[in-house]
Amino acid sequence: MAEQLGVVVTGGAGGIGAAIVSSLAASGYAVGVLDLAPVEAAEGVTGYQVDISDYVAVEEAMQSFQGNTGPLYGLVNNAGWDEAKPFIDSDVKLWRKVIDINLYGPLNATHIALKAMVEAGRGRIVSIASDAGRVGSSGESVYSAAKGGIIALMKTLAREHARQGITFNSICPGPTDTPLLAEIDRGSGTNLVAALERAIPMKRLGKPEDYPALVEYFLSDAAGYVTGQTISVSGGLSMHG
Ligand SMILES: NC(=O)c1ccc[n+]([C@@H]2O[C@H](COP(=O)([O-])OP(=O)(O)OC[C@H]3O[C@@H](n4cnc5c(N)ncnc54)[C@H](O)[C@@H]3O)[C@@H](O)[C@H]2O)c1
Repeated sequence: MAEQLGVVVTGGAGGIGAAIVSSLAASGYAVGVLDLAPVEAAEGVTGYQVDISDYVAVEEAMQSFQGNTGPLYGLVNNAGWDEAKPFIDSDVKLWRKVIDINLYGPLNATHIALKAMVEAGRGRIVSIASDAGRVGSSGESVYSAAKGGIIALMKTLAREHARQGITFNSICPGPTDTPLLAEIDRGSGTNLVAALERAIPMKRLGKPEDYPALVEYFLSDAAGYVTGQTISVSGGLSMHG
């Protein structure tokens, strides 16, 4: 890469986000990570301990990152969280937490990143949504609503900014072997992971390493004509026409 491009990854301290961060840093991007947890020190990676549901904190972190790297080129909305529970047993407190992290978080980061991208006349926004937002997921009603919201947000922004060199796409992982799924599995009271492994045509859970190549594609020059798209990466569990 002739020019070092700056990309912010939310939730890059663990799980899928950490695999995306390592891959982007190895490809020569300057990576800023916004996460509640501290980020392991690595070349080309700067960590900011931030709650993505806090607009002002996200703005300060992104401004500090851009002070070092120049105008932001890319944003990967990856941070997410859920606690599985039937909707009928859930309450407003849980809904607020799920929507704060999974919908307000990407809204905040996208709104702030877009200002720099519009000014620069180029940019790439990639959101890690979920198949829950496309086909639903029992026990994940509000999370599914938020993920469906992100997919619709990316499509709408793809239209609003189509002539400004900025693209917006969503990736929907299937069930993936990360701390988040382990927590949901524990809370489910059933052998959820074993059932998922039986149902997935490729007979295995996703791994964090299954996603960075598609993120890098969406960030690339080659993907400049691809916008408003949603792609599932799920071992064949979900197939969309
Ligand atoms: N694991 C799966 O089965 C699966 C399936 C579909 C989609 N996803 C999505 O993939 C993304 C990554 O999930 P994962 O499985 O790697 O989860 P994970 O829990 O392993 O990692 C999520 C990261 O986000 C950070 N984070 C959580 N809340 C935050 C907040 N408010 N502010 C800043 N950082 C915060 C966590 O500290 C953590 O580092 C999420 O958007 C998730 O919804 C995961």
